[in-house]
Amino acid sequence: MRRMARQKKDGLARGLTHYGDAGFSLYLRRSFAKSMGYSGELLGRPVVGIADSRSAFNNCHRHFPELVEAVKRGVLAAGGLPLEFPTISLGEVFLSPTSMMFRNLMAMDVEEMIRAQPMDAVVLVGGCDKTVPAQLMGAASADLPAVQLLAGPMMPTSFRGERLGACTDCRRFWALHRAGKVDQEGIDEIEGNLATTSGTCAVMGTASSMASIAEALGMALPGSAAIPAVHADRLRCAEASGRRAVELAKTPIQPSQIITEKSIENALRVLLAIGGSTNAVVHLAAIAGRVGVEVSLRRLNELSDSTPVLVDLKPTGQHYMSDLHAAGGIGAVLRELKPLLHLDCMTVAGVTLRGVLERHPAWVDRAVVRPLAEPLSAQGGLVALFGSLAPNGALLKRSAADAALFEREGRAVVFTSLDDLAARVDDPALDVKPDDFLVLQNAGPKSGYAMPEAGYLPIPAKLARTGVKDMVRISDARMSGTAYGTVVLHVSPEAAVGGPLALARNGDRIRLSVRERRIELLVAETEMQKRKAAWKPPIAAPTRGYARLYMEHVLQAEQGCDFDFLRRT
Ligand code: FES
Repeated sequence: MRRMARQKKDGLARGLTHYGDAGFSLYLRRSFAKSMGYSGELLGRPVVGIADSRSAFNNCHRHFPELVEAVKRGVLAAGGLPLEFPTISLGEVFLSPTSMMFRNLMAMDVEEMIRAQPMDAVVLVGGCDKTVPAQLMGAASADLPAVQLLAGPMMPTSFRGERLGACTDCRRFWALHRAGKVDQEGIDEIEGNLATTSGTCAVMGTASSMASIAEALGMALPGSAAIPAVHADRLRCAEASGRRAVELAKTPIQPSQIITEKSIENALRVLLAIGGSTNAVVHLAAIAGRVGVEVSLRRLNELSDSTPVLVDLKPTGQHYMSDLHAAGGIGAVLRELKPLLHLDCMTVAGVTLRGVLERHPAWVDRAVVRPLAEPLSAQGGLVALFGSLAPNGALLKRSAADAALFEREGRAVVFTSLDDLAARVDDPALDVKPDDFLVLQNAGPKSGYAMPEAGYLPIPAKLARTGVKDMVRISDARMSGTAYGTVVLHVSPEAAVGGPLALARNGDRIRLSVRERRIELLVAETEMQKRKAAWKPPIAAPTRGYARLYMEHVLQAEQGCDFDFLRRT
């Protein structure tokens, strides 16, 4: 028995440490593993790695110890050996300059630790915004059988008779505070009531969008995306993920068989139907790039035109993720979208999407998930814009924007950096009117701020106080999936590489037409050439460490802000 185990190239015998003697390497590995108290019988089982992204700097993952125990239970029950390992965690609000800068670092960590350590399959435990894309990117590149286990959403809370949930309500109350309608005492009290359980933000923000995408892609178990973090079903899902990983260790289905051009299109359809986050387009482009698939913004527009919005969730609607779970979850959305989906895509459950939907229970709450024939809106929530201001594209979440601002020409009020914005936006002397376009430069991937969620520029205080709630805002930054407003994002090429956005000046005219999918800087070509000749990069290149690696290799938004050397070519 023991000799057979030593001859196998799976389980603990995978990827032996090089000592020049394979027999010695395995003997030493088993010996050291036994120092942890494992029996020989357990060490001969298929190994399921559990990539655990818990951290005291990540509130969304605070229930992971319990979740990981449930995964281990499932692995053991199915005859595998569960071995958890830590990876980088990215707690959205705890990282500077922004978690986005470190998504690729986490993806590299996940990929390399899956590849370097002896495991036959892996359960990826993540949830907060960047962690799921990082895990899926890493797993796609490592291409070992993988099950994505999601953190699950927070529960909404109740405050003075009102339901509250992170983080759409965080922004709503802060805007009221800025406008002088909620005092300091009030905002202090609200601070303690916005996020009160473990799990990811309670609305259809980036984390919920990525959870929905993980299920739609087929990388998370059917029915798992919307289960609340604190619900017993979440633990049962963890156990089932562990069990399923053992089956995948024995009969492998690799991520590259699941993440394909077709399943990525399915994921985009779901993203549009749920009114999901703009960030998810960037992350999906990065995940797709790891299997050699391009996500085209022009194709996104075609899909958006033919995919109705079906889910009524904040920030664009009324409900929370826990309501979506009770209403039938992402399975109910997939069932409605069935005529638009590629049903032959394989899933981690070992059956095709068609097979998944045949098994899916028929219950659906129509208050939350509308029928395909009676959608909330006939078109998808996202639209890509092109034009002289954004030759390679920009994104607008039209479902979260004010349609009255969609066909407009306006005067540019330009902020040259985030510091400039912070210094001047509330200056009573700022020359700004409600129908101006606010423009933020140098907040893209190579700006030194690493494309933060700063695209939701605050309404200048003097306008906010007069009741102005929305203005056209344009930048190369991202926006939180929980935010709302007429916000044009991800302008590419970005200002920090000398894109046309860098050349906009105060008083220039900009034309926005959502109908025509256009965003134009109305400045004569000769003047643009003159400005371009005088342009200088906004920051000096970093000279060392990860910041240097990031700056030298990060791609633009339409390529997912991945590193050039990590995409599959
Ligand atoms: Fe983690 Fe929102 S802060 S999902």
